[in-house]
Amino acid sequence: MKLKINPNNVEFMISAMDVSQYPTENKSEIALSGRSNVGKSSFINAVCGRKNIARTSSKPGKTVNLNFYNIDEQFIMVDVPGYGYAKQSKTDREKWGQLIESYLADREELQAVVQLIDLRHKPTQDDILMYDFLKHLDIPVIVVCTKADKIAKSKVDKHLKIVRENLEVDPEDTVIDFSAVDKKNLPKVYAALSKYV
Ligand code: GTP
Ligand code: MG
Repeated sequence: MKLKINPNNVEFMISAMDVSQYPTENKSEIALSGRSNVGKSSFINAVCGRKNIARTSSKPGKTVNLNFYNIDEQFIMVDVPGYGYAKQSKTDREKWGQLIESYLADREELQAVVQLIDLRHKPTQDDILMYDFLKHLDIPVIVVCTKADKIAKSKVDKHLKIVRENLEVDPEDTVIDFSAVDKKNLPKVYAALSKYV
């Protein structure tokens, strides 16, 4: 099946802080994980063909909620708050850990995780921990390397190799260089998502 999304039929559902608030319609879910500021909200907007369905900002941090979006009745995208935000308090970090761990470990609807990595930089220790945790849980991962527009074309392959090597990416997981600015490889992203929805 080829994924085709009607931008007018994308809808923010709920910002949930607790399992009791999660949607109950049994649709496939794809969650996004990544360092704060890596481009998760921009990714959602690009995939949906909407300018601002997911809030983007240059200020990282903020909430510890899971944001659910109904993507054209085909699947649900779940924006997970970013990790590695230095100014987060210890209590917030603990709350974050509990929310994310239980969502990833227990959510039946979860089909795959898109892990976003900033293509400009070597994966952080947090990126590696998250990827290992997902693999430990046997969750398929689509590694989307963001901000590719900020790198010279001739250097993209080298950066992709650094990401693959440092995360020790499972051969079954796809790695895609992506840009929300020029929509680089959006068709590849759709192809990867379509396996799980
Ligand atoms: P938090 O929700 O705060 O954790 O951040 P996020 O991961 O949702 O990142 P967001 O989409 O808000 O993007 C953070 C900043 O990076 C914004 O200023 C975006 O405009 C910028 N950005 C995101 N994706 C890209 C990209 O592909 N290329 C470029 N050049 N900038 C990007
Ligand atoms: Mg965001």
